[in-house]
Amino acid sequence: MRLVLVGDIIGKPGRAYLAECFPRIRRELRPDLVVVNVENAAGGMGVTREVVDELLDLGVDVLTSGNHIWDKREVLDFIDCEERLLRPLNYPPGVPGAGAVVVKVHSTRVAVLNASGRVFFPQLLDCPFRALDQALADLAGSYDCAVVDFHAEATSEKVAMGWYLDGRVAAVIGTHTHVQTNDAVILPGGTAYITDVGMTGPYESVIGVSREIIIERFRTQVPSRFQVARGKRQLSAAVVEVEAGKATSMTAMCWRE
Ligand SMILES: [Fe+2]
Ligand SMILES: [Fe+2]
Repeated sequence: MRLVLVGDIIGKPGRAYLAECFPRIRRELRPDLVVVNVENAAGGMGVTREVVDELLDLGVDVLTSGNHIWDKREVLDFIDCEERLLRPLNYPPGVPGAGAVVVKVHSTRVAVLNASGRVFFPQLLDCPFRALDQALADLAGSYDCAVVDFHAEATSEKVAMGWYLDGRVAAVIGTHTHVQTNDAVILPGGTAYITDVGMTGPYESVIGVSREIIIERFRTQVPSRFQVARGKRQLSAAVVEVEAGKATSMTAMCWRE
């Protein structure tokens, strides 16, 4: 079974490029399951119902997210009705939405889980290590293979999570920092790991945002409104081959126009 996990979609340029690449993804990568991180998919921040429908219609199977999931307030109105849209599972109890879903791929039940790191994040979320232990225990018996989108800032926290889950899940894919790291590996227990898969959107930018705005912000320390960059686009993804719940190969890829 082949999984394709696509890194953070940045606004309309990211969505348009994903749509343009989708026939090529199908033809060249032949995925059995496509998971896409959508926390920046609507104007660079959050998601709307329309954006979620657009991505599901394209053929994406599961949508993961992260700290930007709540940026468009309307998400609160529909996240409970859309089980294929995940938010990090380590929010406090009672928060709308869910952080895990089990989907059927041919005869294999694949659990997709989404958790957020805590280091350098302002939100006081629950411990992602304990939360993932709990989620995997709760799902025990209902899945044959699991993949985790670990949305975190600190490389140390992400690397630690890879080792922590090694042998228990088929893949731990890092998201959030938007720059693909050169450390894709199959850990000894059979878990595919990458610290960050990278982003999908305009690359002549500062992690997807207009570079002029960000440079000015760093120079002056005056807050300004983020704007999704224009120009040439890229698609960043991880391709993971899974057999009997273990990863057998892992490739990080980036297509650019
Ligand atoms: Fe992001
Ligand atoms: Fe993020």
